[in-house]
Amino acid sequence: MDLSHLKVLVTGGAGIGVGGGVCQALDAGGATIVINDIDGEKAKQACGKYKRAIPIKGDVSKSEDIERMFDEIERQLGAINGLVNNAGIGLSKKSYLVNEAEFDRLYAVDMKGVWLVSKYFVNHLLQKEHTGSIVNISSVHAFATQPGYAIYASAKAAVEGFTRGLAYELGAHKIRCNAIAPGMVHAEQNYDLMRTWTDDPEQWEQDFVNDHQVLQHLIQPIDCGHTVAFLLSDLSRSITGQTIYVDAGTTVMIAERGFVENTAT
Ligand SMILES: NC(=O)c1ccc[n+]([C@@H]2O[C@H](COP(=O)([O-])OP(=O)(O)OC[C@H]3O[C@@H](n4cnc5c(N)ncnc54)[C@H](O)[C@@H]3O)[C@@H](O)[C@H]2O)c1
Repeated sequence: MDLSHLKVLVTGGAGIGVGGGVCQALDAGGATIVINDIDGEKAKQACGKYKRAIPIKGDVSKSEDIERMFDEIERQLGAINGLVNNAGIGLSKKSYLVNEAEFDRLYAVDMKGVWLVSKYFVNHLLQKEHTGSIVNISSVHAFATQPGYAIYASAKAAVEGFTRGLAYELGAHKIRCNAIAPGMVHAEQNYDLMRTWTDDPEQWEQDFVNDHQVLQHLIQPIDCGHTVAFLLSDLSRSITGQTIYVDAGTTVMIAERGFVENTAT
């Protein structure tokens, strides 16, 4: 895919999970990447991995940070034409035990952040009469979830609703907006969460793949990156308002594989 015409802001792009996979795929296609992260040092270090990348520190939940980010982008690159709303935080706690501060922070980053950065990006495009494309990072939890994830799941469902609404608003300006919804993406950082459930995260991960994925391989960050690259490219010019599930089939299963193998004839 030739992405050399793209200049893309990736929020939370310094991470090694989905954000890292997105930057890797965009870089491979020749795009210029603006790597945002709340952790400025991490953003600077991440830029070292790519050919054409600039770091930009900022918290996506704060409009003053985003305004400064777009001023900085204007100074360094003039204009950008792609946005990936990747920055996100998780919360693994039953909803009736979640406190107000936890709820507010999750929504501030995972939903308000997506709206705020999109708002500044869209105005950046409209002022220049440029076209462009947005990809939001949702999650399988927007479709089906598990205990402890109701708040996260609701924010991601909101992201998908926002994706459809924004796509409708922007169609007349030839600006597209889509989302991807990853399943369980293999990244070292997920082991920290898994360790709160099990002593053997690698086995837990393998059991998940065996039982809860149609395709029996670990989903890698680059798998998400390739789908995002496609959605930012002109190859997807007739797709807008959609969410593509990059989940190795997790959400098409009504029963786990072990159960089906024992019952199907
Ligand atoms: N990892 C998974 O298995 C998985 C699955 C489904 C969806 N997702 C979604 O993918 C996205 C990326 O998650 P990931 O776990 O792959 O992490 P990641 O490796 O892409 O890292 C996320 C980055 O976001 C940064 N960040 C956090 N809050 C921020 C803020 N307020 N402003 C700017 N940057 C901020 C962090 O410092 C981190 O570097 C999230 O939206 C997440 O909900 C992840």
